[in-house]
Amino acid sequence: MLDCKDIRSGYGHLPVLHGIDLTVGAGEVVAVLGRNGVGKTTLLKTLAGALALRSGAIRLGGQDVSAFVAHRRARSGIAHVPQGRGIFGRLTVEENLTVGTRAAGSRARKDMFDDIFSFFPVLRERRSEPAGNFSGGQQQQLAIARALCGEPKVLLLDEPSEGIQPNIVHEIGELIPRLARQYGIAVLLVEQNLDLVSHAATRCLFMDKGRVVHSVPTSELGDEALLKSLLAL
Ligand SMILES: Nc1ncnc2c1ncn2[C@@H]1O[C@H](COP(=O)(O)OP(=O)(O)OP(=O)(O)O)[C@@H](O)[C@H]1O
Ligand SMILES: [Mg+2]
Repeated sequence: MLDCKDIRSGYGHLPVLHGIDLTVGAGEVVAVLGRNGVGKTTLLKTLAGALALRSGAIRLGGQDVSAFVAHRRARSGIAHVPQGRGIFGRLTVEENLTVGTRAAGSRARKDMFDDIFSFFPVLRERRSEPAGNFSGGQQQQLAIARALCGEPKVLLLDEPSEGIQPNIVHEIGELIPRLARQYGIAVLLVEQNLDLVSHAATRCLFMDKGRVVHSVPTSELGDEALLKSLLAL
């Protein structure tokens, strides 16, 4: 579904990504791990079109979207839940979700909210409340739900566990693969929380200095020596 070849990008004169290749299939969850500053967020921003692609190619279900700006990438089916979530605190749950449906344009389905609320019961209960005073976990669930309202083919999640209680992290870890399977979405999950990664992902890519240096099945995350060498803890 998502197929990237030799992706390069950066900020001003600073190159950050030095040629990333990756593929994520429909319904698959692939995790991206690596120390702070290796370029994980930069990778997701580049795929979403928030940061210009300097060279390389991004294909979405066979379509080359490399030249598309951010809103065209969104419309083609790439949804981005940024680090820090970016929900609208003054808007209610339903209003936030309505904003999410706009990404899909004419593809948006009217019954999408009910469908999505079945995965997030707490959002159904609080559907008319402004999201600003929700807990971190509820805001993260809303950010994911809002992205789903655009009926994406690819979902980019940047550290969904950040600032969230462990029990909710666990819940989100179970939810992500269910959503991926249910909707046939290719999920690229940037995450440092190994509990979440081990529940959610089937494959893990390790990044260092703007490159993917290793790819392992999630089952091998139990190998502490390997993990230490890859993350240089
Ligand atoms: N807006 C920016 N302008 C200039 N340089 C930036 C900007 N954002 C990030 N960088 C630099 O790009 C590099 C990669 O940063 P990035 O945020 O992608 O790392 P990350 O792997 O997501 O780290 P973290 O685990 O801390 O979220 C770092 O050297 C960082 O200092
Ligand atoms: Mg980051």
